[in-house]
Amino acid sequence: MERRRIHIGIIGLGLMGKEFASAVARWHHLLSDDPVPVLTGICDRINASHSWFTDCFPGIRIATDDYRELLECPDIDAVYCAVPHHLHERFYTDIIRSGKHLLGEKPFGIDEAANRKIMEVIAQHPGTVVRCSSEFPYFPACQRLVQWLKEGRYGRLMEVRAGFHHASDMDLTKPVNWKRMTEFNGEYGCMGDLGLHTLHVPFRMGWKPHNVFADLQKIAEYRPDGKGGVVPCKTWDNAVLTCKCTDPATGKDFSMAVETKRMAPGATNNWFIEVYGTEGSAKFSTHNPKAFYNLETKGKEQGWTCTDTGSQSAISSITGGIFEFGFSDAFQQMIGAFMNEFSDNPEKHPFRNVMPEETAWSHCLFTAALESERTGKKMDVEYDKIK
Ligand SMILES: NC(=O)c1ccc[n+]([C@@H]2O[C@H](COP(=O)([O-])OP(=O)(O)OC[C@H]3O[C@@H](n4cnc5c(N)ncnc54)[C@H](O)[C@@H]3O)[C@@H](O)[C@H]2O)c1
Repeated sequence: MERRRIHIGIIGLGLMGKEFASAVARWHHLLSDDPVPVLTGICDRINASHSWFTDCFPGIRIATDDYRELLECPDIDAVYCAVPHHLHERFYTDIIRSGKHLLGEKPFGIDEAANRKIMEVIAQHPGTVVRCSSEFPYFPACQRLVQWLKEGRYGRLMEVRAGFHHASDMDLTKPVNWKRMTEFNGEYGCMGDLGLHTLHVPFRMGWKPHNVFADLQKIAEYRPDGKGGVVPCKTWDNAVLTCKCTDPATGKDFSMAVETKRMAPGATNNWFIEVYGTEGSAKFSTHNPKAFYNLETKGKEQGWTCTDTGSQSAISSITGGIFEFGFSDAFQQMIGAFMNEFSDNPEKHPFRNVMPEETAWSHCLFTAALESERTGKKMDVEYDKIK
């Protein structure tokens, strides 16, 4: 039977736009009956970035520097939008109003007000599929951890640590870019860049912080401007949020630490989650991406078991089960979960993409974190602001 095709337009042809296109190019990698993405349109305000796409994808029907032209194109069903944060509100709301489905990038609005506007437009278009990108939970070892969590193997939760650490900013000669400028990246700084990634698994488990105490750091005060001068670097580099949550599985409170750091010595894109409970504990980190660590608490001594996972992904693939899985595979699996939304059975995927309400929760948390840093106090996280 002919599989349904979802014609995709990409807006923003930078780092992530290319990653998306590459995943689509090798779609036959996945063994799934779900609809197939077909790259049909591209948009970037810099025309020079079009050629890699038009050279690699002869099926592209529209290449433009004006995203509104792409939205007017009737051949496009859904848009992947990967542009700087100050554009999220305008671009995402226009995409949804145009009737196209959207896989947007985090933080889904530069700030809470922008996210609220996006949420309002989503509510006005209930038939439109809107999801947010977050790929790390699709590592098979993390999916093992999610399954372990769903089975409640931890007993009563004591502590969760969820984090994302980068080290490239340790190089103080690295020139500034939009991600280090408040006007394009937002007041949240490292939290807006890295935070939603860390919250995808906790939110899916129903672990929503009631309150937060934030310790935010600005470490690199200046950076080269790339033109021989230096400019102030104003965004937050590192954040440690200490939160109190309730586990809906037990009704008991526990502590959650959310760490987003651009200046974590030695860390190259290390996304991790650690869960500590009275009966069991488990952890996963992209530093050792095959490894699913878990232990059962029996008496005085506890010993970690490390299971080497292979390519046993949520959507099975042609790759042999013993072979290694990587970032590009996780990104393709995430798009696979998005494609699953257009199938006859969108509930079947074991771990759906970040939902719009989860982006709204993250904004409530980061806004409270900024207030905590300003006041030096622990702040309640106010979710009732969300309509
Ligand atoms: N999922 C992930 O792992 C991940 C990783 C990095 C970044 N991101 C997110 O993806 C988004 C983009 O980040 P990136 O790293 O790809 O950035 P990037 O700077 O590499 O690419 C952004 C692109 O947007 C284009 N652009 C800017 N203004 C535009 C406009 N008006 N119209 C059309 N195109 C325009 C730029 O020319 C550039 O090519 C951000 O929201 C970021 O937070 C996600």
